[in-house]
Amino acid sequence: MKVMAFNGSPRKRQWNTATLLNSALKGAQSTGASVELVQLYDLKFSGCISCFSCKRLSRKKDGVCSVQDDLSPVLDRVKTADALIIGTPVYYGAESAATRAFLERLCFPYLKYAKDGRSLFPRRINTAMIYTMNVPDQMLAKIGYDRMFAMTQMTLRMHFGACEVLLSTDTLQYSDYGKFEAELFDIDAKLARHANVFPDDCRRAFELGVRMASGKVPEPVPMAWHE
Ligand SMILES: Cc1cc2nc3c(=O)[nH]c(=O)nc-3n(C[C@H](O)[C@H](O)[C@H](O)COP(=O)(O)O)c2cc1C
Repeated sequence: MKVMAFNGSPRKRQWNTATLLNSALKGAQSTGASVELVQLYDLKFSGCISCFSCKRLSRKKDGVCSVQDDLSPVLDRVKTADALIIGTPVYYGAESAATRAFLERLCFPYLKYAKDGRSLFPRRINTAMIYTMNVPDQMLAKIGYDRMFAMTQMTLRMHFGACEVLLSTDTLQYSDYGKFEAELFDIDAKLARHANVFPDDCRRAFELGVRMASGKVPEPVPMAWHE
């Protein structure tokens, strides 16, 4: 069992996204799975360039992206992975730029514009999105984040078969709130949440990692356009 994780935060160690991803990978490792963590911000790569090489009728449909950059060998390794865990901070109500670029390159070569199914990925595997963000739980639906999470979840389900979403809200943004602008925030409440709730987020991430490595892929969920 091989679990690949991707850190879409430029803060590569210790911070929210990296910590949750490491917890998830510890969970996967606890079942005996082999794990790999890819730091997206260590790689020089672009999003999809809309060349449509992957859709050419003359080309073998193998789900391979023609763009050659640092992401290419990573996408090759995805072909043999049994689970993918993608962690990202929320930036301006969406995944970070590197995560968006990664998702485009990961998914589009597998997308079939055909009537006999939508994905060229040859197996159904578990995937997960782990989001970390400043906003508190009660604001998510009000500002439309739930739709953003659902859209990415649907995309990954369509291409790979299953996708779980784990949210970690109201995260700690600075190690020392005294040194940065933070008038908007209740700093004591932020610190208390980090001490009391974030460890539970890490526990949930560990359990997610165990599920990702279980090899049990949940039954397909009908897509919105099939309903
Ligand atoms: C450029 C930028 C944009 C951000 N935009 C949002 C946002 O729209 N909504 C939100 O809830 N948090 C936002 N945040 C806060 C981060 O999502 C949050 O601090 C996250 O936990 C950071 O993850 P990290 O600690 O792994 O880097 C933003 C942070 C940055 C640097």
